[in-house]
Amino acid sequence: MKILAIETSCDETAVAIIDGQGDKLKVLSNIVSSQIDIHKKYGGVVPEVAAREHALNIIPVVNEALAEAGIKPEQAKSKLAAVAVTAGPGLITSLIVGVETAKALAYAWNLPLVAVNHIAGHIYANWLSNKKLKFPAIILTVSGGHNLLVLMTDNLKYKIIGDTRDDAAGEAFDKGAKMLNLGYPGGPAIAAAAEKFSGKVSAKIKFPRPMINSDDFDFSFSGLKTSLLYQLPKDKNWPNRINEYAHEYQQAIIDVLVAKTIKAAKKYQAKTVLLAGGVSANKELRQQMAETVADKLPGVAFGLPDLKYTTDNAAMIASAGYFKFKAKQTINPDKLRANPNWEL
Ligand code: KG4
Ligand code: ZN
Repeated sequence: MKILAIETSCDETAVAIIDGQGDKLKVLSNIVSSQIDIHKKYGGVVPEVAAREHALNIIPVVNEALAEAGIKPEQAKSKLAAVAVTAGPGLITSLIVGVETAKALAYAWNLPLVAVNHIAGHIYANWLSNKKLKFPAIILTVSGGHNLLVLMTDNLKYKIIGDTRDDAAGEAFDKGAKMLNLGYPGGPAIAAAAEKFSGKVSAKIKFPRPMINSDDFDFSFSGLKTSLLYQLPKDKNWPNRINEYAHEYQQAIIDVLVAKTIKAAKKYQAKTVLLAGGVSANKELRQQMAETVADKLPGVAFGLPDLKYTTDNAAMIASAGYFKFKAKQTINPDKLRANPNWEL
């Protein structure tokens, strides 16, 4: 059962084709046309520019995904089972390009259409590894736009048990990197700087672990950002200690993410703990979460998406789309509208 999926919620124009059989998924193509170099000079994504680039790129990227999967455009109608698309959340003008393209393809090829929530896509990146995942599962899904702890009791059954009260962890990485002059996107830049530091962080560099002991599963990262903002001017030597600051800043984020995830998994007696979203590309987070789950939650399985499926891509949308299609959750193209605030 082959699914073609489109993802244009932010600044990556992405199209993928996967082949699903039962619970087994095979990625036939996964094309991501990144706009990072274009947005870099502005220090962040400019929505108007992103939408224009999506409009220019989307058809070539669809064609490339078909070609790589060995499907000629005239065969798409008979070889594909459905078209899936990210309908939200995200930047409205970016989403519209993907959604309207998917609707046009579904009409032209006479195929069913599946609307996929972007966050569900990030979560379903974990199903591309083809491991048998047992429910209940606790998923920490963290990116630039969202920061959630999700309880899944079955396929497609989500309950949000924790959210951020202000910034998402990815946003904290991006804003921290800006203050440390490390550039954009901030997550990989902070991670690379942090890795260069070894030894013990000076006692003078100290960041809070906001809400780490709160009774709920919510997060808050804006205080961490403010703490960096106030500490830097007090340290005249900070430009020579960027790696040390990055190291401690990253560790503060990881400590909170790990502690809350473990606490949630205990409370909901999870059989599986999963990471998802752009921040799950962070090597230290991956490693420390794996170690802590093994240490504190014996018998609980831990899963991670393959690195190439952590940041925005369409294979993850195809994965979630496949499960929705199997559950007969399709939508009439006339009824589908991009929804920038679509909640999981
Ligand atoms: O999921 P994603 O590609 O886009 C959104 O849905 O937001 O996530 C992008 C976010 C950015 O904030 C970026 O800085 C962060 O993920 N990110 C990382 C790493 N790679 C990407 N954060 C920490 N460490 C990384 N290695
Ligand atoms: Zn994303």
